[in-house]
Amino acid sequence: MQVLAISFGHKDGNCDILAKKALLGAKAAGCDVKFINTNNLIIERCTGCTACDKVFEKGAEAKLCQRPDDFRFVRDAIMDADGCIFVAPVYSVGVTGQYKNLLDRMGASHDRAAMIAADKQRKAEGKPGVDPRLFKDRPVAYIPVGGARTPGWTSMGLPMMHLLGVSNLMIPVDYMEGYGMGDRVSPLLDKPYMDRVFQLGKNVGEQAGIPREKMEWRGDWEGVCPSCHGTTLTYRGEGTKVECTVCGSIGDLCIEDGKIKVNYPADQIARGRYQPGGLVEHYEEIQSMMKNFMEVIKEHGAEIPALAKELEEIEETKPEHRTMLKRV
Ligand SMILES: Cc1cc2nc3c(=O)[nH]c(=O)nc-3n(C[C@H](O)[C@H](O)[C@H](O)COP(=O)(O)O)c2cc1C
Repeated sequence: MQVLAISFGHKDGNCDILAKKALLGAKAAGCDVKFINTNNLIIERCTGCTACDKVFEKGAEAKLCQRPDDFRFVRDAIMDADGCIFVAPVYSVGVTGQYKNLLDRMGASHDRAAMIAADKQRKAEGKPGVDPRLFKDRPVAYIPVGGARTPGWTSMGLPMMHLLGVSNLMIPVDYMEGYGMGDRVSPLLDKPYMDRVFQLGKNVGEQAGIPREKMEWRGDWEGVCPSCHGTTLTYRGEGTKVECTVCGSIGDLCIEDGKIKVNYPADQIARGRYQPGGLVEHYEEIQSMMKNFMEVIKEHGAEIPALAKELEEIEETKPEHRTMLKRV
């Protein structure tokens, strides 16, 4: 089994240190390990061009982004891995932009529910199925890393990092808060912390390759959501109803023994984004929106150019010279 750790921090920085220590834990669990630092790689953003859809329609094994940068190298490493550890710096309270670029380009295009449906259809037509690596069940652990003394400065790191594992249905088995790096100076000076990072890697390594039902959460506490074990809730002003910001499951908030608790009914857990049912629900939602889109275009499409006429008054401002990114 192979465990991959990706660091999105600067070379030999805090994320590299934590990712490598976690890989030592995975190695101790008997796994082969691979380490990637993306900081000097170019992973541009998804432009919504849908070229990945088009190559897939023509029979490619998977929806593959056609932009000529380092995305495919990183994506293939994730596809080859049996377990993943993502370690990313927190910038401006959330995850770094490069991480978000990667997840936007791997999200919709690697959606498990869409791939299951396509695989079934292709095989029914007597054609080869989709890339089998899309169906691997991988344990995943995340470490958002921030310099600030207080965790409030890293609060959107973890919820955003989760989204890389969601669409391909990885299984969260652990996470660690990585705030306070400024005070630590180097995480290497904090032995208990490094020991816990080692354990995180072991927790991933020990569960790489085992069936999804047998994987277990090994984080320090259960969190509030039983799927992602996260603590971030969205409140839409409806009584005691709250939504797990990562999973989308809706539950009922109450106080038990002086602590906030959310009771999620079983059907809400099952429709969470980290669960097969949640991805199928969203896949079906997209199918029905596409049907609706075609109907609306048929009925009202001809009205759109006249309605858009007034927008022509607003002109786009463009830079005088385009700047091209280069590897450094
Ligand atoms: C532009 C920028 C924004 C940052 N914003 C935050 C932040 O909001 N919260 C925080 O805790 N640390 C913040 N940091 C500190 C980094 O997260 C921290 O130094 C981290 O260890 C960087 O990872 P690296 O050493 O692997 O590169 C920021 C750093 C930079 C460069």
